[in-house]
Amino acid sequence: MWSMNLSKYSYGLDVCRSLFHRLLAQIAPLHYLAGFWDELAATDPNQAILTGVTDDQEFLKSGRCSLGFLENHIVLDSTWHVLDYGCGTGRVTRFIAPKVRRVTAADISGTMLSLLKQETKHISTITAVRIRSRSLKELPDNEYDLIFSMLVLQHLNKTNASKTLFHLGHKLKTGGYMFLQFPSADYKRTFPELYDRMSETDASQPGLARLYYPHEIEMLLHDNQLCPLKFEYRDGDYYVSARKVVGPDALKPLPPPFQERYAADIAVMSGASSWPTGQKYSLTCRLRNIGNMSWRNDETDLVNYVQLGVSLAADDGHIIIRDFARQALPTVLGPDAEITLSITCPAITEKGRYFLLIDMVNERHFWFHDLAGTVCRHAVEVIS
Ligand SMILES: C[S@@+](CC[C@H](N)C(=O)[O-])C[C@H]1O[C@@H](n2cnc3c(N)ncnc32)[C@H](O)[C@@H]1O
Repeated sequence: MWSMNLSKYSYGLDVCRSLFHRLLAQIAPLHYLAGFWDELAATDPNQAILTGVTDDQEFLKSGRCSLGFLENHIVLDSTWHVLDYGCGTGRVTRFIAPKVRRVTAADISGTMLSLLKQETKHISTITAVRIRSRSLKELPDNEYDLIFSMLVLQHLNKTNASKTLFHLGHKLKTGGYMFLQFPSADYKRTFPELYDRMSETDASQPGLARLYYPHEIEMLLHDNQLCPLKFEYRDGDYYVSARKVVGPDALKPLPPPFQERYAADIAVMSGASSWPTGQKYSLTCRLRNIGNMSWRNDETDLVNYVQLGVSLAADDGHIIIRDFARQALPTVLGPDAEITLSITCPAITEKGRYFLLIDMVNERHFWFHDLAGTVCRHAVEVIS
């Protein structure tokens, strides 16, 4: 009896402790985050930075490779002062340093910075700066010709990531460049253990990755007066370069692929209004690509693999099964192209009135109505 009470008490204590830590993470997040990264850096820094990579050679190779991605977007200038924000142990810092005048390597983790200093002590143009404030007051305003941040913003909840980008924008010279990496929805498949929907808003889980959709990245840049230059998808991540613009230049039209839109005009051509229980149900639709992206039918295409999809909704509109049916496109469907396609839905056992919500799905990324809000509805009565 006593021990039962005790264990209840200790469970209560655990809950209180865990709530306390979560609360702490929300009120004193930088201190908490720094401790989190310090601990990881002290245990296995390579693994802390690149999940699954412990070997030094592989780690360094990835740093050169990441710099290659950056240079694919931006031509470096030997006069530049560059900021590597969230530099870690200098995986990329050490390779960019010989190509520019000066590099400031900034991080919230003192342990990461100590390791960086040891590893790069032969490079006199690198200065390490410990970040202790959300407003980044340790860094001068209007100073940097290029700011890059890789594998960092994903570890902040989305609100903090946006605030950080706002402050970083102030550190950039007008006309300066920004290069950022964001994980795509593909992480759900490739790193399921790093993903948790809650983490988008919760600051207490810095180890998790927040996934971004292209339109979110577009908004982030625009909100911070950054004009996108190039957008690229590689192995599960988006890499985006942008320029700080002010005045009329800020209103320049967006370059591709930010102008690119996924949009579909879908009409049901045939589909019975009643549907016997226990039987599959087919309907035929006319699909027209009214966006400007090609819908690809190759399932190995990680960016534009598009299929026809159906969700099952109840009479009151709430979705019962989101991924109810799928039909592959027989061919690539370019802008303005149109086809007629049949799709078969699984049998339903419960009688009643339902809606089939018919839309295109960019697999691994989004349903088109996630972007545009409109969806084709088809009412059907399931009868005995
Ligand atoms: C996954 S590591 C990436 C390190 C480095 N950018 C790279 O690509 O090798 C994330 C780094 O971001 C740092 N970090 C996390 N939150 C930060 C923040 N709010 N401000 C600055 N650095 C942060 C961590 O301490 C850690 O060194």
